[in-house]
Amino acid sequence: MSGPLEDELGDVLEKARDGKSWRQSDLAHASGISVGDISRMERYEFVPDESVLKNLAEVLDLHAPSLIAVANATWAPKPIEPDPAPFDTVCLDVFVGTYPVKCYLVICKATQTSAVIDTGGNPEAIIKKAKELKLQPEKILLTHAHFDHAGGLELLDTTYNCPTWIDTKEPRPSGSRDFKFLKDGAIIKLGNLNIEVLFTPGHTSGGVSYKIHDTVFSGDAIFAGSMGRANSSWSGLYDSITQRLLTLPDHTRLFPGHGPATTVGEEKRHNPFFSGQAAGGNEQ
Ligand SMILES: [Fe+2]
Repeated sequence: MSGPLEDELGDVLEKARDGKSWRQSDLAHASGISVGDISRMERYEFVPDESVLKNLAEVLDLHAPSLIAVANATWAPKPIEPDPAPFDTVCLDVFVGTYPVKCYLVICKATQTSAVIDTGGNPEAIIKKAKELKLQPEKILLTHAHFDHAGGLELLDTTYNCPTWIDTKEPRPSGSRDFKFLKDGAIIKLGNLNIEVLFTPGHTSGGVSYKIHDTVFSGDAIFAGSMGRANSSWSGLYDSITQRLLTLPDHTRLFPGHGPATTVGEEKRHNPFFSGQAAGGNEQ
């Protein structure tokens, strides 16, 4: 479940600027780097040398070694060890147009009961995999309502005739005939499994993560080496990540909506936004 990181230098810079409500000209003023060069970095056209990256990290409150590693593509999270708890996770790489999205099938080993976490925009791929594994998913759990995560809802709803869980603060995606609404800390039963609901807003106002044993399906809150886009609240998203996700044990697996799976420990050591800042993270 590896693969390229979701975000490159340009994405990280843009998101870090967003956290300070800075325009490119504000970053240019703070760093002494030209607007033209910043713009080229954010368009993925230019990766500067380490001294410039250190300067950018300093003014944007990013962890310099982690930013350099992301910029030069020299870091990726280690491959994930399977969670020893009695469930299987199947990661499905689906596409919305050409944009890759991760959906997941979670299966209770004892009962073969299963759930779909996010439906992507290409539900045929999920249905094909479920058929292959002889599964009849009984729940659809949405991390949020963006089309690339919930676009396939209608076909899954008609195929499996099962309820869809979502936070009340999200818009209702079309396609489900039976919405159920989440509460922070609630437990959803799946066969013998307990799925804990963790509210992790900020990417969207009703963004949630789902935790099973030492595995978290985190939607677009955090990515390996970056964070989601803060569509509803940058500080809210930052708090969600640092207070709800990175406080979990280091070995906790994080399965995001885009990019490779990672762990809490990896992100505390290597994520430019959180390394040296989250509880227990390394200092520069
Ligand atoms: Fe999203």
